[in-house]
Amino acid sequence: MTTRRKIAAGNWKMNGLQQALTEVEALSAANPAPGCEVIICPPATLLRSMAKRCAEAAINVGGQDCHQNSAGAHTGDISAEMVADTGATHVIVGHSERRETYGETDALVRAKTTAAWGAGLTAIVCIGETLDQRESGATLDIVGGQLAGSIPDGASGENLVVAYEPVWAIGTGKIPTYGEIEEVHDFIRARLVRRFGDTTGNAVRVLYGGSMKPDNAAEIGALSNVDGGLVGGASLKAADFGKIVAGLS
Ligand code: PGA
Repeated sequence: MTTRRKIAAGNWKMNGLQQALTEVEALSAANPAPGCEVIICPPATLLRSMAKRCAEAAINVGGQDCHQNSAGAHTGDISAEMVADTGATHVIVGHSERRETYGETDALVRAKTTAAWGAGLTAIVCIGETLDQRESGATLDIVGGQLAGSIPDGASGENLVVAYEPVWAIGTGKIPTYGEIEEVHDFIRARLVRRFGDTTGNAVRVLYGGSMKPDNAAEIGALSNVDGGLVGGASLKAADFGKIVAGLS
């Protein structure tokens, strides 16, 4: 039986000015020795200062996106090397907000994942169905397709984390039933094992994301094949995120 260390990952999205960095100190003071891996993904403007502040704390820092190329004429973009250069160790790729707003395809997410690995970053690859897709019974087809299309060959338990985030659960306060979450996570695990073999397939952490809160984190974290959470809104305040970290520990 593989033991996978749980992860509490916070995705701050487009939130946080310099003063928000104090949340990291509060989090670390409240959870000095967390029983799970803690990752915070602030906006790019805070990556460097957060990575510096977190050097002594048990908190890893991640970007929210990266370009698929390592450098070049891509105004406004940030390469995986640049994310790594800030001291960050992780990067989210393929978040549904980017897939929806910028039309990011599985092929692009796959290229970004390759770029992340090339820069030595762990990629947190997001997948998940829309409400229409769930209601039409297509959830596993969609999730299976995104998983196959968004992850390059060469995955390992160290370089890849998968985040299952039902699009309709993000920022809405709605979550699937626990049975529905387990169904998808068991399916993702089976697909990872089928593609990458027992050792790698069982080592990759699969996070749940979408309205994870202090009052449901421990229960969701205890479900089969759920290895933690990718948390948006509730990660912004140390008081809430600290409870989620404790719930997942
Ligand atoms: P939420 O966002 O926790 O605010 O629902 C999750 C995410 O988008 O990663």
